[in-house]
Amino acid sequence: MRVVILPSELEVSDFAAKLICEFISHKENAVLGLATGSSTVLTYKVLIEQCKKEQISFKKVSTFNLDEYIGLEPNHTQSYRHYMDSELFNHIDINKKNTHIPECFNNEFALSCNNYESMINNHGGIDIQVLGIGTNGHIGFNEPTSSLNSRTRVKTLSENTIKNNSRFFDKTEIQPKLAITMGIGTIMEAKQIILLGLGKHKSKAIADTIEGPITSFCPGSILQQHSDVVVVIDEHAASELKLYDYYIHTENMHQWKISF
Ligand code: F6R
Repeated sequence: MRVVILPSELEVSDFAAKLICEFISHKENAVLGLATGSSTVLTYKVLIEQCKKEQISFKKVSTFNLDEYIGLEPNHTQSYRHYMDSELFNHIDINKKNTHIPECFNNEFALSCNNYESMINNHGGIDIQVLGIGTNGHIGFNEPTSSLNSRTRVKTLSENTIKNNSRFFDKTEIQPKLAITMGIGTIMEAKQIILLGLGKHKSKAIADTIEGPITSFCPGSILQQHSDVVVVIDEHAASELKLYDYYIHTENMHQWKISF
């Protein structure tokens, strides 16, 4: 794993956006796997700026989101379709037909999940998967004890996740307790993975992911078995890493190597 520790949220987001832009500038029909939530908002803002400055174009890019709540209409302000439209897609030159989010409003969940997997395969797989991480170590909505080989499916959200995400819902709104999520096996097939972590509240999940044993109790820990993962985190999220200094040193050496 490449572990990049940066001083601020802005620098983390700039770094992640730069990796994505560089990739798209070499492969204009890139297939991106995208996440929702707080961790990705600023990265998407940087991508929007780059697109507005015509440094990058999403015209031929396709996207697959990790997950969607079951029970929310796509135009519900808390649906992940709504999040993606308002935080990214409405502001870039992407063709919305090329943006995919698990279909959760037809009650044919098993069919939706299989179709989602087929669509990803038909696009040649995901080139770069962007991930956030839950305080309990979840990736996508693969909660602790999810099978490390799981595929896209319906998942019951944990109490921890429901509580953490309640900040996005009005008290009068019914908060979904189920979601369709790409499986851990699906995520692991992405060619490259960028994991974002911001804030002290993510420090334990980040330490367990990078330095803990590989266990379904911390789904993020499976990323240790992927050959191309870049973890981009701020100093707060990095604060429980035992090898903190080593990661800083390694990254300095990396910068030194590429300057030749
Ligand atoms: C979102 C997703 C989740 C979030 C995670 C972190 O599509 O799949 O795994 O990435 O819950 O959420 P934030 O970034 O809001 O802390």
